[in-house]
Amino acid sequence: MSDFKTRVVVLISGGGTNLQALIDAAEDEALPIKICAVISNRDNVKGLERAANHNIPAFVVSHKSFTSREAFDERLMEIIDAQGPDLVVLAGFMRILTPAFTEHYAGRMLNIHPSLLPKYQGLNTHQRALDAGDEEHGVSIHFVTAELDGGPVALQARVPVLADDTAETLAARVQTQEHILYPLAVKWFAEGRLQYRDGACYFDGEPMPAGGVNYDASTE
Ligand code: GAR
Repeated sequence: MSDFKTRVVVLISGGGTNLQALIDAAEDEALPIKICAVISNRDNVKGLERAANHNIPAFVVSHKSFTSREAFDERLMEIIDAQGPDLVVLAGFMRILTPAFTEHYAGRMLNIHPSLLPKYQGLNTHQRALDAGDEEHGVSIHFVTAELDGGPVALQARVPVLADDTAETLAARVQTQEHILYPLAVKWFAEGRLQYRDGACYFDGEPMPAGGVNYDASTE
């Protein structure tokens, strides 16, 4: 096996449980990546501690220090590009990105979103699924484009919505799937199996269906 590892920069805004799932998979060699840096737009978040615990360089770039979205994104790009990454992973990074930023990383930036896209782009996805009376909910991983939560989906996992669910219990069920799905999507990218071309996802060279692969952990 080659020693080549895909260089990854992870962007976070908070707890970083998805970051942790990626760190754990990379450390047990299940995932052929090197996490070169973690960048947070918020100080004092748990995700920064997680990076420090694993000796991963971490940077805080507060959006509040910039007068425009463009200036913030430009600074982010400088820090990211200094790491020479093959892939940028948004793991709970709660910022709307400028088109200049999304174009710069087109085809090499993934996001995880807690809904079955195209349903519930934006915030409060769990409560919105409950309010709509949905019987199922889930998580999507997609390539990032200029449209918020609108890029082509590579992978989804579904969970049932239970009668006594709150937004919190539903979020926890979705997060269990997130921690399986994100390392898998990143692995596929690192192995060159998952690609983005002309606004669409390809798997092993074949165009993927809308919604990507429907991942079912129970069939493993
Ligand atoms: C995750 O549930 C992720 O799906 C969501 O933020 C959470 C971050 O958790 N992302 C979004 O809502 C993006 N629109 P984490 O910090 O524990 O990984």
